[in-house]
Amino acid sequence: MHVGTGSSFLEQLSAITEGWDGSIERRYCHLSNVSALLNQYLERINWVGFYLMKEDRTALVLGPFQGKVACTDISLDRGVCGLAARSKQSVRVDDVHTFPGHIACDSASRSELVVPLINKNGDVLGVLDVDSAQRGRFAEDDQHLLERAAKIISQALWT
Ligand code: SME
Repeated sequence: MHVGTGSSFLEQLSAITEGWDGSIERRYCHLSNVSALLNQYLERINWVGFYLMKEDRTALVLGPFQGKVACTDISLDRGVCGLAARSKQSVRVDDVHTFPGHIACDSASRSELVVPLINKNGDVLGVLDVDSAQRGRFAEDDQHLLERAAKIISQALWT
């Protein structure tokens, strides 16, 4: 486990996503705090944040994040994020240099974990993306924790 204590992290995550009033502004407000919380808890990462599904469902658009300036639009047929959104599955890449079509926003990134945000109808709302400069940084327990986080976020901030 590379994250503080899992339960305390999830408790804090639940607390900061409470009180969504249905507005886009408040959603972005809470997602901003979630990206800050993730950046505080996850060790050895260089980027963490959200890409949200465009209304026409053709691409992902950059949302709240922590890290270097990133690409703003990711077509669903591109990158690790596109694959996670398309397949509705988490994608863990130990070495992004071996992933065909990887989009390098920060050239220091070496491994990546992308978890889809899915609503109760099974529609993809966006993805949670975490990058690390360390090869093989993300393990199965990181994936499971972020999948639980993605579920809490989806339930709290989308109807
Ligand atoms: N590497 C991602 C693009 C987003 S950045 O990592 C912030 C991808 O290949 O989809």
